[in-house]
Amino acid sequence: MAITLEARGKLDFVLMLRRRWADVLYPALRAEYDATSPQAATPREARPVVHALPTYPWFAWLERAGQKALWRAVQDSVADQPPPPPAPPGPATLMLDPNLLLPDWYTDWDIHIQPGGVWRNDASAATYELGAKLVMMGVNDDYTFHRAFTETAIPKRDYRRIVDMGCGFGKSTWPLKRAYPQAEVIGLDLAAPCLRMAASRANAQGLAMEFRQADCAATGMESGSVDLVTSTMLIHEMPRPHLVATLKEAARILAPGGVLRFLDFTRTGDAFRDLAMLEHGERNNEPFMPGLMAADVPALCAEAGLTDARFVAFDERGAGRLDAAVWPRRAEWHFPWAVLEASKPA
Ligand SMILES: C[S@@+](CC[C@H](N)C(=O)[O-])C[C@H]1O[C@@H](n2cnc3c(N)ncnc32)[C@H](O)[C@@H]1O
Repeated sequence: MAITLEARGKLDFVLMLRRRWADVLYPALRAEYDATSPQAATPREARPVVHALPTYPWFAWLERAGQKALWRAVQDSVADQPPPPPAPPGPATLMLDPNLLLPDWYTDWDIHIQPGGVWRNDASAATYELGAKLVMMGVNDDYTFHRAFTETAIPKRDYRRIVDMGCGFGKSTWPLKRAYPQAEVIGLDLAAPCLRMAASRANAQGLAMEFRQADCAATGMESGSVDLVTSTMLIHEMPRPHLVATLKEAARILAPGGVLRFLDFTRTGDAFRDLAMLEHGERNNEPFMPGLMAADVPALCAEAGLTDARFVAFDERGAGRLDAAVWPRRAEWHFPWAVLEASKPA
């Protein structure tokens, strides 16, 4: 993307603001909280304590205002761009469904405060692509994080068919095809603009894979036809009934012995950190985050017919998947990434 000096200046300013929020304000708030006594046992108990701390108004305001400023800067940069060249021909296929009705819970919210969400028009995908780099504060520009998920969180097997649910513009799906070139790899998403971009970028990389427009709770795929179902950053974006339906659909399409790996978030047991995550959802227009944080997702997996369900921690800046639900301690703000692991009984 060719970015003008003025746009670059705005983006740099927003990025700098986010970094200071993460590595100055968050640790300051944490230090004030740690000095309180007695320590709260749950996020609900921690909430009034945290809200009374001197740094809290700055921390909370800057989180939301910074996110709004980010999208304004990103939208301006994207609007400055010339129309994209025609998609390069290549081995990837794209199947859009003009009759698919997007659910109200999906279109009613500007998720992550991105104006128009990721689905409204082609600019939505371009805005999302650039915005995602800023949200990750420049540490995932080459999608190391998504490659680490493929490399460390997925059991190495000879998969024949892999489905990546909620694939967005493809950054979670391309590494799967690279790691398992023999497999048929299919990315599913509701958002046509993201799927168009995913297929176009796959073509540019010479990846023979498929991107399909479908609701991951009703994929239309044959029962027992998939060996591995993945998702990254999907399940915190859906209401509980849809999460239940998605787990049931994953269990239905998985073959006996098939594997499920979803990268998302879960409670850490640290009341301050879990409250910060809940409120991150509130300030960032992620209305279903509290539901996910409160849910017993492994129990929902069991109800869906999956076994051995559990969350393990994922350290995106270190080893990737860790072997237990124990997160590295870091002073600055960082997400409690977690991998939901489950399998279909053999
Ligand atoms: C935060 S993005 C993550 C995209 C990608 N997995 C990644 O890690 O970059 C969540 C994606 O899930 C998609 N999504 C949300 N609900 C969905 C559903 N019910 N069925 C299919 N896709 C869905 C959204 O359109 C969005 O592209």
